[in-house]
Amino acid sequence: PVADVLAQPDDLKTVPRHPSIPMPDQLFRPRANSKGLEWGARAHLDALVSEMAAAPVASAPKEITAEAAMTRAAHAFPAWRDTPVADRARALRRAADLLEARRAPLMATLTREAGKTIDDGIAEIREAVDFLRYYADEAEALCQPRVLPGPTGERNAWTVRGRGVFLTVAPWNFPLAIFLGQTAAALAAGNAVVAKPAPQTPRIAAQAVAILHEAGVPEDALVLAPGGTELGQALVAHPAVAGVAFTGSTATAKAINRALAEKDGPIVPLIAETGGINAMIADATALPEQVADDVVMSAFRSAGQRCSACRILYLQQDVADRMLEMIEGAAATLRIGDPGDPATDVGPVIDADALARLQAHVAGHRVRWQGTAPEGLFMPPTIIELATGQTLDREVFGPVLHVKRFAAGKLDTVLDEIEATGYGLTFGLHSRIDATIAKVTGRIGAGNVYVNRNQIGAIVGSQPFGGRGMSGTGPKAGGPLYLQRFVEERVVSTDT
Ligand code: SER
Repeated sequence: PVADVLAQPDDLKTVPRHPSIPMPDQLFRPRANSKGLEWGARAHLDALVSEMAAAPVASAPKEITAEAAMTRAAHAFPAWRDTPVADRARALRRAADLLEARRAPLMATLTREAGKTIDDGIAEIREAVDFLRYYADEAEALCQPRVLPGPTGERNAWTVRGRGVFLTVAPWNFPLAIFLGQTAAALAAGNAVVAKPAPQTPRIAAQAVAILHEAGVPEDALVLAPGGTELGQALVAHPAVAGVAFTGSTATAKAINRALAEKDGPIVPLIAETGGINAMIADATALPEQVADDVVMSAFRSAGQRCSACRILYLQQDVADRMLEMIEGAAATLRIGDPGDPATDVGPVIDADALARLQAHVAGHRVRWQGTAPEGLFMPPTIIELATGQTLDREVFGPVLHVKRFAAGKLDTVLDEIEATGYGLTFGLHSRIDATIAKVTGRIGAGNVYVNRNQIGAIVGSQPFGGRGMSGTGPKAGGPLYLQRFVEERVVSTDT
């Protein structure tokens, strides 16, 4: 738990500090993978928790029709597109500073509305801040006009600019970081945005939008549209949509793609980030303590409600019993309960439907180990052992880990099985043999491959995040190609 780490004397802490937090004016730099603890000197944590408790309950945003949202954004678009990129970037950086300053009320909403634990909340705010600063920097680099060289004897002036109104559709599991990441990218590139949060998490979205407005994004250049499936469908169908950035399920991404394709008028691009049946392999040379730590972190942290989370662990038969014993021992130490208590490791799942789906899945399988959880929306961490021949054919979105054994010499069969799922988001490998690492990382198509570490918590700018196949269209969020999909290019050739 966070509290145990924080209880160490300051000079024992080895956690690196986020370079951009103490110096808000500094340009984006990738943070170290510090698990969100730099606000965590004991006194700071106590102060943060009491500020969170004192924060008023955020109000739910007003509803708006698809037509009204799109019309407002379409009106605001030309002026925002023509705002110098330095000014757009400045607004995003100001918003990043405001997020840091307002972390307590934001974290209060993350905990109350999305059930985020304190360290997940800290990490989420930092990721949102990173996205804002990163896309501000990237937009300034991308949106510079250039005169292209060549033999034509003409002046070829190349520019990029916003495409129009971008619709961003966010998930409930990162209701601040992903909501703001998609939205900030579209705004930085010069688009107006209609932003639809998940129906479970409208309040944190409203706080984020208010901060962007306060930071200088014109009211109508960013319109919040809270609602469910019906509103989402009306927004996608609206003729003003120039692009969609969506994070959520594969089925919904395909439905959006179909709806866009069937519309009259322009061909509208979709950027989709979806799920995965993320695997980890540990062979007989892996360090068991490290595997245990990384599996528990990857499968159970954030109650397994990350699209990056480990869903299936392949263990080499020779070491499987020993490793499972250690994993179960480590998982048994997790504290499950009140997400607002800094000692909690695993909070609730998002809602009763999610809990019921997880329970139904577990009921249909052979449970090898299960932790305990209090009454309420808590799903106990669970380990299911699959027999040879049994496969996992869908994403189980919660703290449920599937385990499968493989015999020495059968690594290729395991790799084939993982690739056959059609997904390709995250993948983990624990091995101390260079040739195995080279072979496996060469064969696996997942977008984010992690070797001898956990497989969650990609860092903006350093570990661009996103997959392929049924896991998404790319480009990767927090990566150097992301903004390119949000702009249109022009070239004006003039005879000189
Ligand atoms: N970006 C998050 C992670 O890497 C995904 O859900 O864990």
